[in-house]
Amino acid sequence: MPTRSLTPQQQLEALERRADDGGGAERIARQHAAGKLTARERIEVLFDPGSFDEVDKLVTHRCRDFGMEKQVIPGDGVVAGRGRVNGRVVYAFAQDFTVFGGSLSETNAAKIVKIMDLAMKMGAPVVGLNDSGGARIQEGVLSLGGYADIFLRNTLASGVVPQISAIMGPCAGGAVYSPAITDFNIMVEDTSYMFVTGPDVITTVTHETVTKEELGGAHTHNARSGVAHFAVHDDRECLLLIRDLLSYLPSNNVEDPPRVATADPATREDAVLDTLVPANPNQPYDMHDVIRRIVDEGQFLEVHQHYAQNIIVGFARLGGASIGVVANQPAHLAGCLDIDASVKGARFVRFCDAFNIPLVTFEDVPGFLPGTVQEWGGIIRHGAKLLYAFAEATVPKLTVITRKAYGGAYCVMSSKHIRTDVNFAWPTAEIAVMGPDGAVNILYKREIDAAPDPAAFRATKVAEFREKFANPYVSAARGFVDAVIAPRTTRARLIAALAGLADKKDVNPPRKHGNIPL
Ligand code: HXC
Repeated sequence: MPTRSLTPQQQLEALERRADDGGGAERIARQHAAGKLTARERIEVLFDPGSFDEVDKLVTHRCRDFGMEKQVIPGDGVVAGRGRVNGRVVYAFAQDFTVFGGSLSETNAAKIVKIMDLAMKMGAPVVGLNDSGGARIQEGVLSLGGYADIFLRNTLASGVVPQISAIMGPCAGGAVYSPAITDFNIMVEDTSYMFVTGPDVITTVTHETVTKEELGGAHTHNARSGVAHFAVHDDRECLLLIRDLLSYLPSNNVEDPPRVATADPATREDAVLDTLVPANPNQPYDMHDVIRRIVDEGQFLEVHQHYAQNIIVGFARLGGASIGVVANQPAHLAGCLDIDASVKGARFVRFCDAFNIPLVTFEDVPGFLPGTVQEWGGIIRHGAKLLYAFAEATVPKLTVITRKAYGGAYCVMSSKHIRTDVNFAWPTAEIAVMGPDGAVNILYKREIDAAPDPAAFRATKVAEFREKFANPYVSAARGFVDAVIAPRTTRARLIAALAGLADKKDVNPPRKHGNIPL
């Protein structure tokens, strides 16, 4: 508290110093020893140099129980404010683990709420740097109320301003539901974890033994649960990733994403694409190659890289404009759509649609993954999410069928029938109800059994079916694909098509909200 022996200027400096010191040298040393930056150091890396304006640096808690009245630290365990990232305004809060373990108090929550409200008024993204022991135990329900105040803002801001959460330490209990509602979660390997109930409670209730890392570490949530979208090695990488991610996004839902000048010519052709799809339809290839060869300077920021790898989603640019890429991955599960891939794809499509980011889909999908695990797990409901997301999206939508487009998956993967604006197919495309082998087995079952040489008869029928349906020309004749294009020209064709769609206006019927099959 201010003392009379200091000048007003000295009083202010003293208070600010106490806020800057957080939990003190010893706890800061512990934070560093754990491989973590402090809240203020994180803010420094996140924002353009010198651009951060802090709010509520002198806020203190009001708790007078458990001796808390003797422990009052200005700022109260969270650094909050506004700064610039690549010149654009962004709001952020960073929980300070050195102050009461970054736990959320009533006043500390009010600081977070304040910047979220400002971000909504200004139409700017919100970044949350989470590193907290959860609800401030000494404050009881006041802290829980603070969490709920934040969850409400997260929900109301969803689809209005981008929200990014970095998990840079503990994030446990109900606290996980703020990151869960935000658009992207980034987890730092070895130092972060998220769970609703921790290992000790789990052992008591279910008698399972599990470590914190196994239960809710970066690997678990990136590769297994899909809760996290990115895994990074350390704090610095995490913060630089947030800057990179923001560069693809508009500041809010009424702006377009920023354009980034590129030296990559719009008409660049790539002859490798002409032979990238193997002649044998059962042979895989890596769809990442296709994406990187087409987008500006080969730069692709993959989202959910470690989860449901049978579908690829992420951000790139074409001719300087941000795009959201959705692509089947023949190199994993043959590119089949399953529950996890459908949910992953649907969430990404909805994000892009909310924030005016055109969708470019690369399709090579043999269908939905068969099996009881999928059926009993609700592939019908989950697969419908991806269909729903593509169908309701009103941003410019472009699709390139590189090889298989079979069955229901043909309809789902941004087909012409669900309002996709431009549908291209490569000459290697096979668009049919199912693959030639499956089709012949069903259509000619009796004839195959009765044939003197069943294998030869079958092979003839497969060849016939392939000749008739396993190509893009039936679809092209119907106008279900707009053009069959030489693969090498894909970049130029997509850039020209995007330019043509720059002023696209499309709307959905008026309603309170749709009812996506959750
Ligand atoms: C008050 C807390 C705190 C909390 C930690 N601290 N968590 N203070 N409220 N929730 C304080 C500690 O007392 C300690 O203070 C300092 O922060 C660092 O904590 P340590 O335990 O020394 O650190 P570490 O060993 O790294 O362990 C971190 C931890 C552990 C795993 C997070 O502190 C812990 O288990 N905390 C309790 C977690 C918890 O159960 N939270 C409630 C979850 S339920 P000193 O002064 O010694 O530095 C919840 C509900 C949300 O959050 C509901 C929303 C709807």
